[in-house]
Amino acid sequence: MENTLLLCIFMSHWHVLNALFTVEVPQPHYTVEYGSNVTMECRFRVNGQLKLQNLSVIWEKKEEHTEEVYKLHKGTENFKTQHSNFRGRVKLLKDKLQLGQSMLQVTSVKLTDAGTYLCLIGYEGADYKTITLKVKAPYRNITKRTVTVQRTAGHNEWELTCQSKGYPKAEVIWQNGELKDFSEKANTSYETGTDQLYSVTSTLKINTSINETFHCIFWNKELKENTSTILIIPGYTMDSQRINNRHYFGTAVAVFALFGSFLLFTLLVKKARKEQDSVTCTNNAAVKVIKLSTDEEEGDCRVISLEDEELKNVRIEVT
Ligand SMILES: *[C@@H]1O[C@H](CO)[C@@H](O)[C@H](O)[C@H]1NC(C)=O
Ligand SMILES: *[C@@H]1O[C@H](CO)[C@@H](O)[C@H](O)[C@H]1NC(C)=O
Ligand SMILES: *[C@@H]1O[C@H](CO)[C@@H](O)[C@H](O)[C@H]1NC(C)=O
Repeated sequence: MENTLLLCIFMSHWHVLNALFTVEVPQPHYTVEYGSNVTMECRFRVNGQLKLQNLSVIWEKKEEHTEEVYKLHKGTENFKTQHSNFRGRVKLLKDKLQLGQSMLQVTSVKLTDAGTYLCLIGYEGADYKTITLKVKAPYRNITKRTVTVQRTAGHNEWELTCQSKGYPKAEVIWQNGELKDFSEKANTSYETGTDQLYSVTSTLKINTSINETFHCIFWNKELKENTSTILIIPGYTMDSQRINNRHYFGTAVAVFALFGSFLLFTLLVKKARKEQDSVTCTNNAAVKVIKLSTDEEEGDCRVISLEDEELKNVRIEVT
């Protein structure tokens, strides 16, 4: 009631007082992201030291029914008549008042905060200005899914899905690698939750080949903003992956078999070498030098005992 009265006083005296006392807005339009903070500002003239007891500040949001956002009445804050939408989320930066700045901070901005705000100030006169606030929620995180629906000889039918949340409503545009448009073939659905954000899900069913790429673009017309992601048709489906797995298993078996026979072979060679060593060592001539020249072991010489008569006294150089 008191608030309405104050507004009446503001209104009726506005044209008279306007010339003497004015409120200015440095920024009449604000666009902020859902969930972020915003500080809206209006200015008034302070001559010398601010007399707080003479100052009244009112911030209101214009709806069918005006919502009171903040009130400072003759230097004293009053939250009794504050609208529940703003409870606990607004603060006037009081240290700025002496500079003639009425700065209203709104935290964790909601979609319902969008609209027109009135900044009314009564000091050595009265005046008000309006500020508009837009709230946006970009479709930033896009979740994607690529599944095969049907497999027939040569052709695979794929179901590509993109899903994201944002505000306002976004169209979903589908393009392939050559920028050909497939949007008409897609099915896009919209859902709204308690947070009022749109949950947009778009599905494209398409016959296509391996490694083809698709883009789903969330086109936010109102904000003229695009976000997109890329989907790549994978080289094999679940079925062929199983086939591949079988293939890998086969390879593993072959490798193990090979390794096993190598072990067996080494054992046999060792055994044979033992028997031969006893022979060559008594010969006293079975010494050979092999020079290995690699990056790490340059000029690494190893003396080994020889088991092969044919290689006796041969110098092998590996570079
Ligand atoms: C918003 O303001 C609150 C309170 O001042 C602060 O704790 C929070 O970190 C701010 N959030 C962002 C995104 O700046
Ligand atoms: C879109 O979805 C509806 C209902 O789920 C379905 O009847 C329709 O055939 C779908 N359209 C396309 C092009 O997939
Ligand atoms: C967003 O993407 C659509 C489709 O590719 C295009 O028509 C539009 O111009 C793009 N807008 C911006 C702002 O990039």
